[in-house]
Amino acid sequence: METAKQDTILIVDDNPTNIKILFSFLKEFGFKVLVAKDGESALSKLEEVLPDIILLDVQMPGIDGFETCRRLKDSERTKDIPVIFMTALSDTQDKVKGLNLGAVDYVTKPFQHQEVLARLNIHLRMRNLTKQLQKKNVLLQQLTSELEERVSSRTAELRESLEKLQQAQIQLVQSEKMSSLGELVAGVAHEINNPVSFIAGNVSLASEYTEEILEHLRLYQQVFPEPGAQIEQHASEIELDYLVEDLPKMVASMEVGVDRIRQISVSLRSFSRMDNTSKTQVNIHEGLDSTLMILQHRIKANDHRPDIEVVKEYGDLPLVNCYPSPLNQVFMNLLANAIDALDEDNLNKGLSYEEIKQNPNRLIIKTSAIEGAGVEIKITDNGPGIPAEMQSRIFEPFVTTKPVGKGTGLGLSICHDIIKKKHGGSLLCNSKIGEGTEFVIRIPQ
Ligand SMILES: Nc1ncnc2c1ncn2[C@@H]1O[C@H](COP(=O)(O)OP(=O)(O)OP(=O)(O)O)[C@@H](O)[C@H]1O
Ligand SMILES: [Mg+2]
Repeated sequence: METAKQDTILIVDDNPTNIKILFSFLKEFGFKVLVAKDGESALSKLEEVLPDIILLDVQMPGIDGFETCRRLKDSERTKDIPVIFMTALSDTQDKVKGLNLGAVDYVTKPFQHQEVLARLNIHLRMRNLTKQLQKKNVLLQQLTSELEERVSSRTAELRESLEKLQQAQIQLVQSEKMSSLGELVAGVAHEINNPVSFIAGNVSLASEYTEEILEHLRLYQQVFPEPGAQIEQHASEIELDYLVEDLPKMVASMEVGVDRIRQISVSLRSFSRMDNTSKTQVNIHEGLDSTLMILQHRIKANDHRPDIEVVKEYGDLPLVNCYPSPLNQVFMNLLANAIDALDEDNLNKGLSYEEIKQNPNRLIIKTSAIEGAGVEIKITDNGPGIPAEMQSRIFEPFVTTKPVGKGTGLGLSICHDIIKKKHGGSLLCNSKIGEGTEFVIRIPQ
């Protein structure tokens, strides 16, 4: 029969005859054999050496086999060593008790050598297999944790690259949006400027000349009250009295009109200040007004609804040290979103022109100074509101409810970046379904 030659067996028995028999035949089969005469000496021997298997007698002076086994199983150092009880053939109770205490098997006295050997070999083999399994488990755990580490570090790398990519994309869109809009606006403002100055200069002269010509006409009428039939006929044909009355009014309204165009041109230039790189002292109200001016065409009445009411509740603001152009872009995005939401709401509810007039679409722009902490700008609409699950995501890039081609979902994430990162401020959203939405910008001083 095959034996595990290098294996060490500890025999624990008080009976010298038993020890002798076991010792000699196990030796013969190539085992390394250690002997202890009672439980205590076995336990103290185990502090020095660790056998591969223990043959343990039940009846011994001092602590018996069961107690010895209990102590072995209690100790971290010895609990895995297989224990085989040696018991009398008839002691069923002892066999059961031993197995319950954690023994792997029992052999009966008088010993059948081949049986003892076979049982020893089975348990030694099982013990070796268990050891190998444990080693492999440890290795497997190491590999698993290494793999997990690699996966998580790779995931982190990928997440970082994705974030960088998104950031780059946002910045690209942001600067493209801003520069194309800014360039367009600046170009238009520039083009308008020359003819407007020209008209403005001439209109005031024209007003002066008109007054003088009319004065001259009046003088004629006084000196020559009877100008003759031809002149009287012409005067009646051209409705001279009406012309004389209306012409100064016309010229005055032209002056008002041209002055308005000049204001628009100033607003456009103020909106398109492309100074992205340095902070300047900015009048926030100018920025808001010029943005409203640019959005005028969307605020004004159309076929589906009357004008959107714009309520300005401007507080007393100090000049704010900020980047004017990006800040205008924030106002632009927030106001455009509010107008989009109002229009969409009217459409969804199928409201008629009259119904909207009864309960007008409204934008409220409120500014206030925060004591020692900069300024606050609130942009509120009485639109449909934003659902709670959407509210938590609106500042993320590419989140939009608008159809492809209408919205990129970048507006608010750009606003968030500009206010938080560029200005160290905060941008919050409060919204209630059916009541409206409020965006609160805070910019530190
Ligand atoms: N005032 C508002 N009222 C209701 N919903 C709003 C309001 N402002 C933003 N939203 C919602 O938040 C979403 C994200 O807005 P964001 O400005 O980031 O993107 P967008 O307007 O869809 O597209 P983009 O601004 O890039 O053209 C919008 O699609 C809309 O659903
Ligand atoms: Mg938007």
